[in-house]
Amino acid sequence: MSLIRLRAEHVRCLERVELEPTDINLIFGENASGKTSLLEAIFILGRGRSFRGPGRSAVIRDGQEILTVSGKIRRSSRDVPVGISIGRDQPPQIRIDGESTEGLAALAEWVPVQIIDPAIHNLVDEGPGVRRRFMDWGVFHVEHRFLDVWRRYHRCMRQRNAALRGAEGQLTAWEEQLAEAAEELAMMRDRYLERLRPHVEAVGERLLDGRPTMEHRRGWPATRSFSEALESSRDRDVRHGITHVGPHRSDITLGLDEKTARGRVSRGQQKLLAATLILGQLTHLIDDVSLRPILLLDDLPAELDKDSLTRVLDVIGTLDAQVFVTALDPGRVELSGPVSVFHVEQGKVRAVV
Ligand SMILES: Nc1ncnc2c1ncn2[C@@H]1O[C@H](COP(=O)(O)OP(=O)(O)OP(=O)(O)O)[C@@H](O)[C@H]1O
Ligand SMILES: [Mg+2]
Repeated sequence: MSLIRLRAEHVRCLERVELEPTDINLIFGENASGKTSLLEAIFILGRGRSFRGPGRSAVIRDGQEILTVSGKIRRSSRDVPVGISIGRDQPPQIRIDGESTEGLAALAEWVPVQIIDPAIHNLVDEGPGVRRRFMDWGVFHVEHRFLDVWRRYHRCMRQRNAALRGAEGQLTAWEEQLAEAAEELAMMRDRYLERLRPHVEAVGERLLDGRPTMEHRRGWPATRSFSEALESSRDRDVRHGITHVGPHRSDITLGLDEKTARGRVSRGQQKLLAATLILGQLTHLIDDVSLRPILLLDDLPAELDKDSLTRVLDVIGTLDAQVFVTALDPGRVELSGPVSVFHVEQGKVRAVV
């Protein structure tokens, strides 16, 4: 699939922009011209949220109430219009192929977008939430039941937490369903990381000096079933009114040459390791589920030294993905193949021929 038309309205400084992207797109312009905002618009079209912090309102152009991003996706020679509007105080409105749709899942299927940006090292260095989101985006694209099970798990956990704080008699009823969903979620994530591993290792060989490792932490001790873990956590759970064990606490321990990466490797190594994970994830989707993803690259030249940049661009050059690259200076990114160039100035975008 490819995004063959994009229209964004009231995304940050962008008033109204329209462009017709091709396979490789280079977006350049001065600081604060709106390059990252343009990538944000594409990301929102696939994820329903920005990659810069959780605040919805911050992304909506000052003085406006609603932002809209729409586009046309070409998949197997069929063009499908997709769009999303986000208001300050209302849930996102989504349209796919002329129909209103609830929830972001359908959009995520049509617009599989991933990003490498200056904050990418967070994937290695921040808390588990970032890594869970990374993992779950991948699982979502390969396991059809994932979203259902994920929702069921969280619904049961909310009910159990309510029961922990009040009527204790209901606890066991929720725990049975919770355990079933928890085991299934953990299994899907396990399976996903097993399938992902060879792809990450292959990209790692080209980008890193050491071997990248990933180990899934399920969110409860590996030696026990989830029911047993719940059982032994129950007293503490009742005291605090929350569930302390489970897939909502799961994580991936990342390593380089068998040593835990977090809090140890340099910032540059964090960035390369994180890029390895993301590019490995995309290679997996391309090779194993025939998905053609959209990859956004924000400010890459500013983040990596020359040699690392060349290596990352080489890997990207071999991916069957649609690519959007921003740069201050178009001369610093060498992209192979025909490139469409767009210039951004004060929130306006113009194709450069
Ligand atoms: N909600 C908003 N409404 C209007 N303008 C905004 C909003 N949020 C951010 N901006 C402004 O949008 C402008 C463009 O920001 P953006 O991050 O897209 O620039 P950029 O081209 O990526 O710059 P850089 O090269 O520094 O990364 C900035 O001046 C920023 O202050
Ligand atoms: Mg920027």
